[in-house]
Amino acid sequence: MSLTSTLSIIKPDATRRNLTGVINARIEEAGLRIIAQKRIQMDRSMAERFYEVHKERSFFDELCTFMTSGPVVVQVLEGENAVPLYRQVMGATNPANAEEGTIRRDFAESIEANSVHGSDSPENAQREISFFFSEIEIVG
Ligand code: CMP
Repeated sequence: MSLTSTLSIIKPDATRRNLTGVINARIEEAGLRIIAQKRIQMDRSMAERFYEVHKERSFFDELCTFMTSGPVVVQVLEGENAVPLYRQVMGATNPANAEEGTIRRDFAESIEANSVHGSDSPENAQREISFFFSEIEIVG
């Protein structure tokens, strides 16, 4: 058995609607453990650095505006195959394509305001986790 970690963000559309607890319940019901968590307000430079891989995409500017429009909850999730497992729990990026019972199908408002982010590979998970958390903030 090999435990891995992934970075999750509960986005401003979800914190605005007071959905943090409901989303955390989905995470825990799936067998993932929340081993670090904090509620923060991202500023523009933070959002631009976090989403740097998307800087050439047409939606980059709007994405950074949205991600700084309210508080987010950043989390480290631990579990068996945490990266693909959490992507399954979240559902497709566009809620219109997300499967029934997924977070995005049930709560997302649009492809942009899609309630949650999850890392897309174990390598990116490590980069994204260390972007938000220091070692002593992660207690497995
Ligand atoms: P996320 O998993 O946080 O990674 C990049 C984000 O860009 C994505 O979720 C969406 O919220 C957002 N986004 C906005 N428009 C698009 C788009 N057309 N295609 C993909 N992602 C988009």
